[in-house]
Order: sequence, then structure tokens, then C-alpha cells
Amino acid sequence: MSAIQPIYPLVDPMPKATADAPIGIFDSGVGGLSVALEIARYLPNERFVYYADTAYVPYGPRKDQEIRDLTARAIEWLYREGCKVAVVACNTASAFSLDYLREHYGENFPIIGLVPALKPAVLNTQSKTVAVLATPATFRGQLIKDVMTRFAEPAKVKVIPVTCLDLVPFVEAGQQMSPECLATLTQILQPVVDQGADYLVLGCTHYPFLKSSIQYIFG
Ligand code: DGL
Repeated sequence: MSAIQPIYPLVDPMPKATADAPIGIFDSGVGGLSVALEIARYLPNERFVYYADTAYVPYGPRKDQEIRDLTARAIEWLYREGCKVAVVACNTASAFSLDYLREHYGENFPIIGLVPALKPAVLNTQSKTVAVLATPATFRGQLIKDVMTRFAEPAKVKVIPVTCLDLVPFVEAGQQMSPECLATLTQILQPVVDQGADYLVLGCTHYPFLKSSIQYIFG
């Protein structure tokens, strides 16, 4: 760890968690709840521990190493809470942390991460143009680049990256339908519509909470 101090020192490995231990879910803020809701829908008998790093949200504008340190601290906390698996329910955190975390914890503590759902958009687009709305940090990471190289490029689908640092604070504040949020969405997404994109990938776990706002503006 460099800048961010761990909550617990990384000491001896903990005993392996039992099958009835909770699933740990982590995001920089409330965004990961969009993932938690889906997991709970598919696994209704599981228990969950949710870590929202509200002291440091948003992660999007932060440096790569800082995102990795914050993520490592959160995952270590979930591990110490006795979770049997950790879900990095944050595209930004996943972009810089999955390899490191998997190597650190090994098989005893599986780490599940996210990458924006570009693949289904590529498979379904009619206009051969799709947009991905994600944080700048997510676009710097290798995970999304790999999906572009493996799926979008061979299919000759144009991918329009869209970033905006104002959106996560709107969601954290519950201001998705505020005039300011609607104006911001119009400003960043109208050019994408004008370029003929027929799919918009919500590449940040906060953004499903903007779905109604986007539908209100664009239908
Ligand atoms: N929810 C996070 C993601 O999926 C990012 C939010 C933030 O900038 O902190 O990328």
C-alpha cells in the first residue's frame, strides 16, 4: 500500500470461511447496490455485507494507484469480516485491482469483478455504433480495452467513450431528476445520439440509477 493505510495490517491468512458466510460486496458508494440487488435476486438465501467507501467517493477522478489502494483496503475489510467471496461491484475499482487481489488472496477468497457490458451491445447493435458511459479511470484500465479489442474491433463496431465526473455525485446525493442532472445528461448524451449510437452501455454501477432520467430525456 502506498498512500492509503490499510484498516488492518496484512497479517497471517484468516481461516477459510464456511459456506454459510456472507458475500462481501464493495463499491465506492451506493452504485454497487445496483449489483447487490441483482445478486440477491439470483441468490435469495445468501447473506451480504456491503462496503460503501463514502469517505473517498468518487473514485473516477482518482489516480490508478490510489484506486487500487482504496480497493485493497475495502476488500481486506470484507475478508476480515469473514466473507466467503468478494464482489468488486465497481467498474473503476475492478479496472486496477482484480489481478492484484486474486494474486494476494489466492483460491481461499475468490474475487469477482466487473467490466462494462460492451459485449452484448456489440452483439445487438444495428447501427454498428455504441456508446459506453464510464469513468475516465475505467477507460484507462486494461479490462475495457480487452473487450474492445476482442469483440468490438472484429465486429467493426464503433465504440464512443463518454465520461462525466458530475454524474456519480448526483447519484450519491439522490439528485438524478434534478434540472442540473438532466441538463448534464442531455449535454453529454445528445452528441452520442447524433452520431447514430443505438446502444448506451451504463459502464459504472452508479449509472443504472440514472436509467429513468435518461429515458425521461431520450425515450
Ligand atoms: N461505481 C463506480 C463504477 O462502477 C464508480 C463511481 C466512482 O467514480 O466512484 O465505476
